[in-house]
Amino acid sequence: MSDTPSDDLSLTGRAALPEGYAFLLAAYPRAVWDEHPNNGQWCSFWLERHQMFRDFSAALADACAQLADGEVEAQAFHEWFLPRVNFYFGEIDTHHKVEEYNYFPALARADAQMARGIALLEGDHRAVHDLLLAAHQAVVALDGAIRETPAEVAAAAPRAHDGLAALGAGLGRHLDDEEDIIVPLILDRSEPVLGIG
Ligand SMILES: [Fe+2]
Ligand SMILES: [Fe+2]
Repeated sequence: MSDTPSDDLSLTGRAALPEGYAFLLAAYPRAVWDEHPNNGQWCSFWLERHQMFRDFSAALADACAQLADGEVEAQAFHEWFLPRVNFYFGEIDTHHKVEEYNYFPALARADAQMARGIALLEGDHRAVHDLLLAAHQAVVALDGAIRETPAEVAAAAPRAHDGLAALGAGLGRHLDDEEDIIVPLILDRSEPVLGIG
């Protein structure tokens, strides 16, 4: 089997992880994660970051929908939205770099069965990056419309919503699958043994 994810495993193509990728999930289902003694400082912080991304994805797309529906005034929207969307884009990028440079190599070394899961997650990062660039373009257009061409806000707001919703959907799939692949390994081996945390 190739280590490169095929098209059916692409982030936007798959509905769930195929058999064998989350090979320890049955032994460590989500219901036991919170209270497990090996859910250490690094793991709990990392899961909180993931939840923050989910919350930002929903809130930012929702704000654009409210603007598109005329439920919020453009200037008030702009003041709330711009710093948050810039933070969100920047943090996604940083989070992925830290995973790729620091954590994925350590996790891949820990067990031969992790290699294809890590390859899949790295492919996801590239797909999320493309979704992020598209969302960023739509957000830049909306920012420009609010600042300079208010008549274009009505068309730019739904496009920004759609870009952020697509990013949120892809990122959400990635976060769920990443957790199902990685958290059970941490609970099975512990952070010190894996050399993380
Ligand atoms: Fe990731
Ligand atoms: Fe992550």
